[in-house]
Formats: sequence, C-alpha cells, structure tokens
Amino acid sequence: MKKYFIFLCLLVPSIACCYEGIKDLPSHRKNTEIISDIVGNELQMKPAGLDAVRYIAENISRIGARALENGFDTDAYTYQVIAGWPNYTWVPLWEGGDIPFTLFIYIWPPRGQDSTPIHSHPIPCALTVLKNSITQENFEIIDKGIVRMNGSKKLVEGDCEVDVLLDSFVHRVSCRENGPEPAFTLHLYAKGTAKEVRNTFYKTFPRHSYNLSEN
Ligand SMILES: [Fe+2]
Repeated sequence: MKKYFIFLCLLVPSIACCYEGIKDLPSHRKNTEIISDIVGNELQMKPAGLDAVRYIAENISRIGARALENGFDTDAYTYQVIAGWPNYTWVPLWEGGDIPFTLFIYIWPPRGQDSTPIHSHPIPCALTVLKNSITQENFEIIDKGIVRMNGSKKLVEGDCEVDVLLDSFVHRVSCRENGPEPAFTLHLYAKGTAKEVRNTFYKTFPRHSYNLSEN
C-alpha cells in the first residue's frame, strides 16, 4: 500500500492551486512570503562559488529557525485524513524555477502510524523539524532492493537531515512516536518546481524504493 501512496502524492496539484493541507490560506500566503525573503537573503549571503542547492540544503535548519522567528505559522496547515491511506501531507512553499530547488512543509498527524516508504533519493534533499518530532529509521542495503534496519533516531525541533548524494543513504521517516500534536517539517528537493519534484520521484521510484529483509 505504501508503494502506491507515493503515486498519490504525485497527483497533488502544483503550488499555484495546491490547497491540500492548507486550512488558513492568508496565513499560508504570509508563510510563503516569509520563506521567500529568507531564501533571498540566504542566497545573497552565499559565498561565491558555492553551489546554491547544497548551500541551502546544508543550512536548512537555520532557514527553519529563521522562518519561525519571523512569524511562520504552522497552524496554517492540517494533515489530511484519507481512510486506508497514510495521511502525512506536503504543501509547496517556495519554487526556485531556474534556481533548482523547491521547499515544502510536511504535516504529520499526531500519534500516527504513518511513514514514508523505505527509500533513497534521486536528487539532493534535506529536512528540518519545525515543530514537535519525527522518527527516522536508517537501513543498509544487503541485496538488490533489500535492506536491513541499522538504527533509528528521533529528530526534534531544529534537527536536520541532509542528503546531497555525496554519501547517500536509505531511510524511512515516520511519526510513530509522535505525541498528541501534529509535527511539521521543512523539506528541500533539488528541482525548481513542485511538479518536477513529483515527476522525478515518480519516474525513479522503482530504483529508489526498498523492501525489508525477512531474515
Ligand atoms: Fe527521504
């Protein structure tokens, strides 16, 4: 079932008309302005010669913290309840276009049993926790498409995880240890539009998804 959920994600409309997960549109629009200002400032501060995507990815934690300091309101969002399906929700916040990365907010339900599929990444990506916590499980590849879990950790507010494909990893992110409140995470994917992100994950899904070893 998880395998098919990613295809469902791919059907989420683009940033121009995406209201899935948004419960307060004016607050969402204000949030996108806050993020846009911060990204603009970060790109201006970027040392010459450094790759913009890698710079933003490696500073995702600072960007999340600044967004909250500047009034980013996670209450603008809600998770979707879809019977029979995992219900973490993602909402595009910023699209770079020619600057090849996109930022999303993910909303994770409280005390949820939901998780991403076990996956690696076809493009650089990064996440940071804005509010509450999520759990990350890590895996080692033991055969083609088969993995074994080799650790897990709780990511709390301000924590980040970055995969710029230099030392790529296999992981699964879940909200299984969540408390009574939803969790919110800020994500970067190295494509210039939400549509490109979806299409990239759609096309590469078989190569970047894994099953647990039965041994
Ligand atoms: Fe991931």
